[in-house]
Amino acid sequence: MTITACVFDAYGTLFDVNAAARAAASEPGREDFAGIWPKLAEDWRTKQLQYSWLRAVSGQYCDFWQVTQDGLDWAMEASGIYDAELRERLLALYWELPAYPEVPAMLAALKAQGMATAILSNGSPEMLAGAVESAGLGEHLDAVLSVESVGVFKPHPSVYALVPAHFGCRPDQVLFVSSNGWDAAYAAGFGFTTVWVNRAGLPIDRLPARPQHLLPDLTRIPEFAQSA
Ligand code: LAC
Repeated sequence: MTITACVFDAYGTLFDVNAAARAAASEPGREDFAGIWPKLAEDWRTKQLQYSWLRAVSGQYCDFWQVTQDGLDWAMEASGIYDAELRERLLALYWELPAYPEVPAMLAALKAQGMATAILSNGSPEMLAGAVESAGLGEHLDAVLSVESVGVFKPHPSVYALVPAHFGCRPDQVLFVSSNGWDAAYAAGFGFTTVWVNRAGLPIDRLPARPQHLLPDLTRIPEFAQSA
């Protein structure tokens, strides 16, 4: 089968979600935070995702920026951090997360192959625009698709349906790439050809479908898209 579109999850896949806490921890005057930022970053991400799933199953959609703030508030309290200035700094840094180093060249190679490229993300259009712009990825992306247009978070099937609707293609012509194992699994269940980018070496998620392919990072995606 021929892949015509390569579609990426945003947070954790193209953009390093731990970078906000890591960068804040390296700033002068934050020596106490420097020792505890990894737990804060992990709790923040875990709660952000849990809240997105809970809001999806309970039908209480709000935008991903709200879920991101709620997750951070839980994580800061769990670490005993009561610092409004640090909270604002972390949120500002989340708006301009860096892309993983291999991302620009990987996207440029896909475009050179004639592949359509897109992001499909829980992120609000404003958050995604901020991250795409600060990482300088705009010229390599044909579309940035946000769950906001369907009002429910991943892994609801209406989110994945945005891709074939946008590109006018069949699901199996889409190579969907995510570092979130659950996202890759549900994308596979939807009918996409999927790659799970397992940067952390985690076990595979026990879910109704499994991603077909596994890679350690994004470097080989262009060669993969051509041969899949
Ligand atoms: C996203 C989250 C799941 O970008 O990382 O959709």
